[in-house]
Amino acid sequence: MKILSLLTLALLVSCNSSDEKEETKVSNKKFVPDMYVASEMTLLMRSMYDANETFKKDILAGNTPESFPKDFLKIFTAKLTGDKPYNDTFKAFSKVYIDNERTIFDTTSKIPIKTRYNNAINTCISCHTTECVGPIPRIEKLLIN
Ligand code: HEC
Repeated sequence: MKILSLLTLALLVSCNSSDEKEETKVSNKKFVPDMYVASEMTLLMRSMYDANETFKKDILAGNTPESFPKDFLKIFTAKLTGDKPYNDTFKAFSKVYIDNERTIFDTTSKIPIKTRYNNAINTCISCHTTECVGPIPRIEKLLIN
């Protein structure tokens, strides 16, 4: 368990290096313009987070979320921080994630909607385990218990 949390910490630092830079600037009394611009992928991830939070509320209220947000397909093309190239793992995870997210809106499915929703969120977490562990605790809050 200790090794795991150390590993998590190391990955967290490497994934959030841009935040560190921001902190140094805050401690500097002079006004320094913020050079950190969120990547297209970061902005997409934030909107995916918010959308899924709404789906969770819908499902808990006994409603079915309306339709698959087409914007999510930008996951295949959005630019990563620092123009980091897409690797095959990332592409594979993106596809599984989109497929799982789509099943939430499949009105013919026999699988309970809560299960389909949690499957999608678990794919967010799987990809983050390999790509960017920092936001995992936040993403886990999206799961329906
Ligand atoms: C295919 C891999 C993959 C999937 C699937 C994925 N993410 Fe991400 N996520 C990333 C990567 C990579 C970044 C960092 C983006 C960058 O650096 O440009 C990120 C960043 C984030 C961030 C941090 C944004 C910020 O403010 O810095 C959040 C929050 C997030 N993802 C939530 C989610 C949620 C919620 C889902 C599922 C609905 C999800 N992610 C699915 C790979 C993924």
